[in-house]
Amino acid sequence: MNPMQNSQTNTLTITRPDDWHLHVRDGAALNTVVPHTAAQFGRAIIMPNLKPPVTTAEQALAYKARIQAAVPAGMSFEPLMTLYLTDNLPADEIARARDAGVVAVKLYPAGATTNSDAGVTDLRKTYKTLEAMQKAGLLLLVHGEVTSSDIDLFDREAVFIDTQLKPLRKDFPELKIVFEHITTQEAAQYVTESDCFTAASITAHHLLYNRNAIFTGGIRPHYYCLPVLKRETHRLALVQAATSGNAKFFLGTDSAPHPAHLKEHASGCAGCYTAHAAMELYAQAFDAAGALDKLEGFASFHGADFYGLPRNTGTIILRRESWTVPETFAFGEAQLKPLCGGDALPWRVV
Ligand code: DOR
Ligand code: ZN
Repeated sequence: MNPMQNSQTNTLTITRPDDWHLHVRDGAALNTVVPHTAAQFGRAIIMPNLKPPVTTAEQALAYKARIQAAVPAGMSFEPLMTLYLTDNLPADEIARARDAGVVAVKLYPAGATTNSDAGVTDLRKTYKTLEAMQKAGLLLLVHGEVTSSDIDLFDREAVFIDTQLKPLRKDFPELKIVFEHITTQEAAQYVTESDCFTAASITAHHLLYNRNAIFTGGIRPHYYCLPVLKRETHRLALVQAATSGNAKFFLGTDSAPHPAHLKEHASGCAGCYTAHAAMELYAQAFDAAGALDKLEGFASFHGADFYGLPRNTGTIILRRESWTVPETFAFGEAQLKPLCGGDALPWRVV
């Protein structure tokens, strides 16, 4: 479907989008965050970084059932499940995973981010499993940052490309790889120049903000995520990639809820919660770039095509209409502070 636009576009009707990178956590948290995502998206790729991580097909199916139980009556939403790659994820779990409908496996370099202690210490330890994935057609979703403390935090994505991703790609030429939540000009360029087996997801917050957002008027923990926001030149490269119409780039919110008291903390958790206003934030970013006509491909087509899944059939409507984001949501016993809480946003899903 063509996005219906007039010259000063005030209403945008697009095919129902999907979120190709999402954290929903577990337990009571599901009841807050799953309805936010289900209200906008047809499907979402569910990250497996629970404690303990989701490492078997059986655990993925049980987690999927808990997520589905949190979808409000009358809404249709399909969680797409993933496994967490460890140094010892057995290769024979891959066939079981595929048979259970698991679509991908997530690589966290050990220590890179939230709940990544069980992650991979050396990619070579995972090669048998990656071989099985390449054969079975499961995708590898990559948190692309090196972890060594002698590499500057802001350089960790670029260094990962040269030292990890390029060798991996050479050893597994037909493994479908999604370079998740890219944050740099180097990553956008790498993906643009790579072959049809490589794609990337991009968050709304990396399209809207640069690293100044973390430090404006004091330290602002709700803008802290990993990979961390970068300087303006990188944000501009991401906007260019997302709005180019290139099918290698698609939507992945990386919405990552944490209790507010653990973000507003001496060592605050990484993660921005954006599921409450995901499409609103993407619409704002595409509108600012004069590229609302490219939003539907990015949000609703490119990801499904890369994953080899059918595109959604329904539609959603976005309207130019200022509204104020709630400051907090209940989050089990705690509070969840969404990105842009208390701020007015220019677009709204109706
Ligand atoms: O900021 C982040 N939060 N980056 C990640 O990679 C993980 C995520 C989380 O799970 O909170
Ligand atoms: Zn994530």
